[in-house]
Amino acid sequence: MRALCRARRLILPTHPTERTHMTKILHIQASPRGVDSKSNEIARARIDTLRQHDPGLDVDTVDLWREPLPEFDGNSAAAKLTFFGVGDLGLKLYIDILTQPGLLFGFDPAKGYFGLLNGKKATVVYSSGVFAPGVSPDYGVDFQSSYLDWWLRFIGVADIQTIRYQPSLLSQDPVKGLNDAINAARKLAAA
Ligand SMILES: Cc1cc2nc3c(=O)[nH]c(=O)nc-3n(C[C@H](O)[C@H](O)[C@H](O)COP(=O)(O)O)c2cc1C
Repeated sequence: MRALCRARRLILPTHPTERTHMTKILHIQASPRGVDSKSNEIARARIDTLRQHDPGLDVDTVDLWREPLPEFDGNSAAAKLTFFGVGDLGLKLYIDILTQPGLLFGFDPAKGYFGLLNGKKATVVYSSGVFAPGVSPDYGVDFQSSYLDWWLRFIGVADIQTIRYQPSLLSQDPVKGLNDAINAARKLAAA
């Protein structure tokens, strides 16, 4: 339950006017590979660079493979109005649990769904061994980023930055690919 409470605290706006300076980050680690994870390494480069610009940065890291998630009981499931079909197991479960009406989204009969987050930004790091943007569908299809983009917009996060380390395995030069992604992460943080 701790992970959910912390996410609530960090995701939900606490000071609606305080939008110019980011002081809190919810860092969601979706890779199961711990210290070997390249996407974690890229995300850390971004956070470290942000911290250089803002030493008071408050970072709360949720490791979806090492922290207990709250139970997803029948009542929660019945209250949900979202659709799930793709994505990483731990991350998908986390999104399922968080995406509750009144918590992350609302509904207006005249206008439809609307997100409840305001003034939040998201950076998503994607890493895959084989898939890369532009490859033949024989090498994988990217439902992952379209799903996460949809979810973030659905809950009201329109400012989305994307960093890709793809492919990480089927690559002539995986080291360059990783360094390029880390540099992109640092550059975004410094912008
Ligand atoms: C169990 C397992 C399954 C994987 N399946 C795929 C896959 O279907 N397609 C793909 O492109 N890469 C696949 N990979 C490779 C990872 O996506 C790739 O190594 C990625 O860079 C891992 O990200 P990370 O370093 O942040 O954990 C798989 C890796 C593991 C360990």
